[in-house]
Amino acid sequence: MNIMAIESSCDETAVAVVRDGREILSDCIASQVELHKLYGGVVPEIASRKHIEAIYGLADEALEKAHITREEIDAIAVTYAPGLIGAVLVGVNFAKAAAFSLGVPLIPVHHMRGHIAANYLAYPDLEPPFICLVVSGGHSLIVDVQGYTQFKILGTTRDDAAGECFDKVARVLGMPYPGGAALDKLARGGDENKYPLPHTKLSGNPLDMSFSGLKTAALNLIHTAEQRGDSLDIPSLCASFSRAVCEMLVPRTITALEASGYGKLAIAGGVAANSRIRGAFEAACKRLGAQLYRPPLSLCGDNGAMIGAQGYYEFLAGKRAGQDLNAYATRSIEAG
Ligand code: KG4
Ligand code: ZN
Repeated sequence: MNIMAIESSCDETAVAVVRDGREILSDCIASQVELHKLYGGVVPEIASRKHIEAIYGLADEALEKAHITREEIDAIAVTYAPGLIGAVLVGVNFAKAAAFSLGVPLIPVHHMRGHIAANYLAYPDLEPPFICLVVSGGHSLIVDVQGYTQFKILGTTRDDAAGECFDKVARVLGMPYPGGAALDKLARGGDENKYPLPHTKLSGNPLDMSFSGLKTAALNLIHTAEQRGDSLDIPSLCASFSRAVCEMLVPRTITALEASGYGKLAIAGGVAANSRIRGAFEAACKRLGAQLYRPPLSLCGDNGAMIGAQGYYEFLAGKRAGQDLNAYATRSIEAG
């Protein structure tokens, strides 16, 4: 079954063709990052306009690269939540028109479910159940993936998302948006023990996370040094910050993994590209004898193929949308 998948929830327009949920026939992305860099973050209205400009050409390119014709598309999958509402709407409207004109089913896909499904593309043998840490620019979730379309949130951030914090600290250090990857690169040359940063203590659910205190502490440290005219060891600050984020994410995810008894852990989302986080999970899973699934960096960030992978399993579960499909800025991964 060939699914054409559309993703436009933030600042990447993406169209892919995926066969049977596991095989990428094409995966085309038009990134708007260079444009939003000028403003230090995504400008929603500009994002929507750029999606409209890019999406038609990208769909043709996706077909061409997949070496298939329009008639060979069996269904259209689309991210319909969560995301920047104007941006998501562009993809949803394009997908509706494509499904209608081709006479094929329309499958609505939750963006964070898509991130998790990137693992099915990277690991053809991976099947639920497993535990997944999904960390992106807008979300940080520890999820029990009970089935392809059954999800239970075990822990979530109480405030900022991990990616948001990486980007904010990177921005204050003068790195262009989105700074997460640049901060990661700089951190590799630093001493992660040089700048002690606080560990926020939370009451209630022990798997919940918090990043805003950590972000504020890092920003205060930078501003205080600036005011005093002290020079900062930037690579070491990046390394200390990355370590602190890791210490918020990794032990909680490992607690969830051990409690589940699944012995299988996946990571997903843009922040799953972080080298410190990838290394920490590798060490922890080795120690526990658990299997770790990490998508290649190209499948961690937003892409269309992950929507095609999840779309296949949503299709098998009977999920369909009509021409009245709406887009949603927020929606729980559990509701789907
Ligand atoms: O999943 P994603 O591409 O988009 C959203 O759905 O939000 O995630 C983007 C986020 C950004 O905050 C970006 O800075 C972060 O992922 N990111 C990283 C790294 N690569 C991307 N954060 C830390 N280390 C990285 N290597
Ligand atoms: Zn994403």
